[in-house]
Amino acid sequence: MWQPRTARPAARTLQEAVWRVAGLLRCARNDAGRRLVSSCAALTAAFSLTFAAAAAPAGEPTLQSAAASTGRYFGAALDPDHFDEKAYAKLATEQLGAVTPENAMKWDAVEPRRGDFDWDRADRLVAFARARGQKIRGHNLVWHSQLPAWLTRGPFAPAEVRELMTDHIAREAGRYRGAIYAWDVVNEPFTDDGRWRQSIWYDAMGADYVAIALRAARAADPDAKLYINDYNVETESPKMRALYDLAAALKRAGAPIDGVGLQAHFVAGHIPSDLRAVMQKFAALGVDVAITELDVRVRTPPDAKSLAVQAADYAAVVAACRAVKRCVGVTTWGITDDYSWIPSFFAGYGAALPFDEDYRPKPAYFAAVRAWTAP
Ligand code: XIL
Repeated sequence: MWQPRTARPAARTLQEAVWRVAGLLRCARNDAGRRLVSSCAALTAAFSLTFAAAAAPAGEPTLQSAAASTGRYFGAALDPDHFDEKAYAKLATEQLGAVTPENAMKWDAVEPRRGDFDWDRADRLVAFARARGQKIRGHNLVWHSQLPAWLTRGPFAPAEVRELMTDHIAREAGRYRGAIYAWDVVNEPFTDDGRWRQSIWYDAMGADYVAIALRAARAADPDAKLYINDYNVETESPKMRALYDLAAALKRAGAPIDGVGLQAHFVAGHIPSDLRAVMQKFAALGVDVAITELDVRVRTPPDAKSLAVQAADYAAVVAACRAVKRCVGVTTWGITDDYSWIPSFFAGYGAALPFDEDYRPKPAYFAAVRAWTAP
């Protein structure tokens, strides 16, 4: 994967020099993946205090403490395979009040072969968050993507598809019953033009699959808040209206829907001006709203100007959430630019998160904290 690197001026301080050395060491880790070069691991560990100092500026509130001052949480998507990296775990521990498994709870992760369950990564994510008193947003139960081949290949009759779906929900939501704050029960049900997305679920059950999934989730974990989550629904658009109409219809039908998640994968300089109004509109249906997958991508390499635009965007998203009583919190899709899906999914873009590749806070971090704490 291509790794964006910000051009840095010559090291002016000892600390800067240390950061740069540590950054070089991390290259070895990135390239080697899990085959960690042990000398690199040891040296990186030796530098972890420096990272920690960078991650939590003295006197500065953390993202979570700032959000909590308004009664909300700040969360991020995490990958349990990085928990043994000290700097990563420290940042996640200090900055977050909520975590979402980036991939660990998806169907292909938990049941790669039929009847062959692998809960290892999901369990580690849950254990990490619980040990730290962090909320967990379960992600996700029903989606068209990241499904195992045995499931998409089938073939299954519609009744079997329904049973596979409700069994999966019972099993996964049941396993973590009581531990999950909110489940993204249904993810991305619509296409950008506001039509139902074709999927194994829609094809078998039609639009009813959403209510069936919500009911199965409620039965499996009665205390979890149940969400529908989607992207490109943060501004008035056919897709946003489709989601609105669905949420309204589910409410009218008495289906157990508690929240609407706005993923918020944004491009710097293009935050919808009606974000607050859209969240308020959903909230007026009597559901919670949450920003669930925030990132604000910039063209790589980033520079001071693009990072300043990004910082203002982070502040705008936080301010929009603050302005809506039922906005319960903001989650970013990853925490450091070191690990973000953006560069591999959006060519030419990256640097989308509040901490840089060296785990140092970016202008976006300071802007987000200020936006939470501003009077
Ligand atoms: C992404 C992950 O970040 C990637 O690691 C994975 O390869 C693909 O999925 N909307 C969602 C998330 O709901 O689950 C997606 O996560 C990003 C878009």
